[in-house]
Amino acid sequence: MWDEKYDKDEWHYGKEPNDFLKSCESYFKEGQRVLCLGAGEGRNALYLLQHGLDVDAIDLSPVGLAKLHKTANDLGLSLLTVTPTDVMDYHFMENEYDFITAIWFHGPDQFKDYVFKNVKKALKPGGYFLVEAYRPEQLNYKTGGPPSADLMYTKSQLEESFSDFTILKSEELEREIQEGVGHSGQSAVVQFLAQKKSS
Ligand SMILES: C[S@@+](CC[C@H](N)C(=O)[O-])C[C@H]1O[C@@H](n2cnc3c(N)ncnc32)[C@H](O)[C@@H]1O
Repeated sequence: MWDEKYDKDEWHYGKEPNDFLKSCESYFKEGQRVLCLGAGEGRNALYLLQHGLDVDAIDLSPVGLAKLHKTANDLGLSLLTVTPTDVMDYHFMENEYDFITAIWFHGPDQFKDYVFKNVKKALKPGGYFLVEAYRPEQLNYKTGGPPSADLMYTKSQLEESFSDFTILKSEELEREIQEGVGHSGQSAVVQFLAQKKSS
């Protein structure tokens, strides 16, 4: 499904980075290590590369990642690794990343449990987990996102799962989104930024 969406000249979610990611720009520092989960065609990974961060990207779609790889090369930017895989088969390294992003990275409870457990492991102390996701109210809007509520995120689910982190932002919003043909119109989202405590 994702390969089909990405196998076109146009970018399914546009080329501009996600708004919430951009709003967190003050946290990004040159040389930080980032893992982009569900990087897709890589618009957010490219933005982070352009800010001097070292980026690993994983996604189910080899087509999306090939687009990311080619665009990075064309711009003279080098990605560290690009891994076409199901996140459930991905081996997360320990204390490796300053940032992990999960932007519109939806899935069922088992998926979220696996992702959250491994995000905690893979972040360095002081590292950040950044999420923008649809919440169940999005089903009323039909402007993008997964077809059922169980694949979405809630603010309370994120807050409970990351109660051992310092939560810097956790907000439910209704906002206008224009991200290519994939996400377009008024939407119900949750934005979340949390920092792993340095014990
Ligand atoms: C809605 S798209 C968002 C892409 C990108 N984050 C963006 O904002 O442009 C969700 C992405 O997550 C990827 N994805 C979904 N389930 C996945 C899984 N289990 N493992 C790895 N990637 C997955 C899809 O291939 C898709 O590219």
